[in-house]
Amino acid sequence: MMRASQSPARSSPAPPETGQPVPARGAGFEVDWIFARSLRMRPVWDMVERVAPTDATVLITGESGVGKEVVARTLHLKSPRRDRPFVKVNCAALPAELLESELLGYERGAFTGAHRPKPGKFELAHGGTIFLDEVGELPIHLQAKLLQVLQDREFSPLGSTRDVRVDIRVIAATNRDLAERVQRGEFRDDLYYRLNVMSIFVPPLRDRRDEIPQLVEHFLQKYAAQYGRPEPRLSPETWRVFMEYAWPGNIRELENCLKRIVLLESEDFVAALVNGAPQRPSVAVTPALPVAPSRPVWDAQLGLKEIARRAAHEAEGLALREVLDQVRWHRVEAARRLKVSYKTLLQKMKQHGLGLALAVAGALSARV
Ligand SMILES: Nc1ncnc2c1ncn2[C@@H]1O[C@H](COP(=O)(O)OP(=O)(O)O)[C@@H](O)[C@H]1O
Ligand SMILES: [Mg+2]
Repeated sequence: MMRASQSPARSSPAPPETGQPVPARGAGFEVDWIFARSLRMRPVWDMVERVAPTDATVLITGESGVGKEVVARTLHLKSPRRDRPFVKVNCAALPAELLESELLGYERGAFTGAHRPKPGKFELAHGGTIFLDEVGELPIHLQAKLLQVLQDREFSPLGSTRDVRVDIRVIAATNRDLAERVQRGEFRDDLYYRLNVMSIFVPPLRDRRDEIPQLVEHFLQKYAAQYGRPEPRLSPETWRVFMEYAWPGNIRELENCLKRIVLLESEDFVAALVNGAPQRPSVAVTPALPVAPSRPVWDAQLGLKEIARRAAHEAEGLALREVLDQVRWHRVEAARRLKVSYKTLLQKMKQHGLGLALAVAGALSARV
């Protein structure tokens, strides 16, 4: 039921090998990130593969620094619009009036100081993708404007009587709980439903710690090369902190930390992350997934029992994923093949963060 065989995902290029840096080029920008071999990110990259080729509006949610912009850019680069503009608008960065003229553009004389006409971001994104970052911060009257543009793909620049028609794909991101803002009357529900046609939740770094080794390696190489410094070898103690710290600033914080290590040629400050800094509540912290065997640095500290427990957990997760894929996410069938009850299967899926994958896959097959 999930993956119709004629779904766009089938005809799109295969996902890149996991764990490889993927430099990608589009019109005017280049991104390099890694598709880490993380169970928690599988649903994200699967979803990217499936929705990228479509024109569907996508809402990307997740804490600050988890990679929402990376996901947005990937969607654009994997879409037929890749050679057209990708225009980012940070809805939190400008006061309301400026944001409005930024989005819609204006004619000469539209307001004092408007000496020359200026095209808005919607117009600049024509043929391509507009990325509305921090969309949760959009002031309420601009929410109405945005809704109108989304519905009609047509708008008038400030001070203009002409209608501008645009062909744009809309991707929005927020670190806010938009549903909650809707409840509190701070965000229009009709706009929320428009934006939330497809949603992609990017989990916090503390829930996908198995990516840390690859990310660390990636950033060390990148910044050592960029600053012409030797590539540092991290101590086991630093690795331990990296694997245990809650990373409230997510990948951005990890990246800055590594940049600092490269520049200072010292990792002394790292220990303070766990000793001094306030930690996030551990409620949301799932047990760290096992680390790649090629990087046994912190394994040695775990003890055999814990190593075995984690290995079993990983094997279970991989088997679940594999079988679910084989049976196209038919849970009754998956339970039968895995020789567990339906209830146990649901429990296990939840434990392995596969509930979300199912929800998004389901929503997608219903719409695409
Ligand atoms: N998978 C990844 N591989 C490499 N770098 C990443 C990855 N995900 C995020 N980053 C980096 O982390 C930083 C924060 O990512 P960003 O997409 O801006 O997060 P958000 O938009 O959620 O705040 C950026 O510098 C980005 O390049
Ligand atoms: Mg961002």
